[in-house]
Amino acid sequence: MAGSGVFEGIKEGEVFKYYTDGEWKNSTSGKSVAIINPTTRTTQYKVQACTQEEVNKVIESSKIAQKQWAKTPLWKRAELLHKAAAILKEHKAPIAECLVKEIAKPAKDSVTEVVRSGDLISYCAEEGVRILGEGKFLVSDSFPGNERTKYCLTSKIPLGVVLAIPPFNYPVNLAVSKIGPALIAGNSLVLKPPTQGAVACLHMVHCFHLAGFPKGLISCVTGKGSEIGDFLTMHPGVNCISFTGGDTGIAISKKAGMVPLQMELGGKDACIVLEDADLDLAAANIIKGGFSYSGQRCTAVKVVLVMESVADTLVEKVNAKLAKLKVGPPEEDCDITPVVSESSANFIEGLAKDAKTKGATFCQEYKREGNLIWPVLLDHVRPDMRIAWEEPFGPIIPVIRINSVEEGIHHCNASNFGLQGCVFTKDINKAILISDAMETGTVQINSAPARGPDHFPFQGLKDSGIGSQGITNSINMMTKVKSTVINLPTPSYTMG
Ligand code: G3H
Repeated sequence: MAGSGVFEGIKEGEVFKYYTDGEWKNSTSGKSVAIINPTTRTTQYKVQACTQEEVNKVIESSKIAQKQWAKTPLWKRAELLHKAAAILKEHKAPIAECLVKEIAKPAKDSVTEVVRSGDLISYCAEEGVRILGEGKFLVSDSFPGNERTKYCLTSKIPLGVVLAIPPFNYPVNLAVSKIGPALIAGNSLVLKPPTQGAVACLHMVHCFHLAGFPKGLISCVTGKGSEIGDFLTMHPGVNCISFTGGDTGIAISKKAGMVPLQMELGGKDACIVLEDADLDLAAANIIKGGFSYSGQRCTAVKVVLVMESVADTLVEKVNAKLAKLKVGPPEEDCDITPVVSESSANFIEGLAKDAKTKGATFCQEYKREGNLIWPVLLDHVRPDMRIAWEEPFGPIIPVIRINSVEEGIHHCNASNFGLQGCVFTKDINKAILISDAMETGTVQINSAPARGPDHFPFQGLKDSGIGSQGITNSINMMTKVKSTVINLPTPSYTMG
């Protein structure tokens, strides 16, 4: 049960505490934020509504802790991360339970998220000791006009305080994808969890607490975005922001100061299916890529662009698989579970209605109960429909029939997003040419878009993001190069 056993101290009465200075505390605001269970649509948990004054204190302790942590040997930092990873995995069940209740993630996928997160933390520790243990040595006479009188030694140093803001759909995994790299690189970390997913995050942070990280090194503040959101992202004590989410990221990038930003925002990941594709493989990937976690993934297949000559067969195959998806509560491990909030369900419904009015073919009857939306494939979608461009973040996939590969690439590149895309064909040469032409951070050949494995580079173009993620890239992004130059005597004074 969430809040029981080893997690006892993170809650008082009905409300979960926030974490700072190595302690669990109640906010002086006396206020809390309610977390609504997407399935029951009733309040499941409550978290502290922290104040700006508390944020100031958190960042101050974070700054102090970081100075000492940066001096802690790399192998010791790695050792603590391995410990946290093990504790997290050991407590996968209560953390997964929070995910089921807060974000309606199917039970099995919730456990997978926690286990994947433990593995991610361990990989950060291993990768960190390798890449941070190396620097560069340069000599001056490789640049015109210089003698060999300067030796330059470079190493990677931490940035300071990293602010991590993960989204609701992977609150644990996308939090540790920021925490692991930040800590191994010698930074301290302040976590602002999403409201839905905050309690899973607090449990995860407690695993770091149990591992014995120094006080103040990792903090977790909860509260209303309107009260502490901008205050955190514009805080002069923050030295780096790593954000995953929607449009808010664009606003943050405009307001943040002169600090490195890592942003993973939305996507409208296209799936291009050519005439020679293995249509069974394509259909299976459209189902998995489009409907897992009810389409609430930035890397979900969000538009299918299929050659007209194979469109009927593909649609038929997708529909046959779609009919087998189990719809219902996350506790029963259903494939399609309620979407995260009523406003999200309303938004998805708006896209469906728009497509209906403009003449799309609904392969299934549109059905909704509360936040639960039955999966739908929309055929014959045209570019004048909102669903052709907007990101539903729900179990609804538009199919646009194309007459040439160029038409598909054109549609994909006309999007404001550029996260991932995929192409299904048996012709590898064509696949490579299409990958080169698609303006997205990643193109998957013969598989659905996906971020993992977590050490792969992961990045979006245009409105889909800033910088590149994946464990190695995140560690590098959360460091700065420091040079020390040894100046030698000029050649006239040298011996020999
Ligand atoms: O929602 C955005 C996530 O980064 C997608 O991750 O491809 O592992 O589902 P995933």
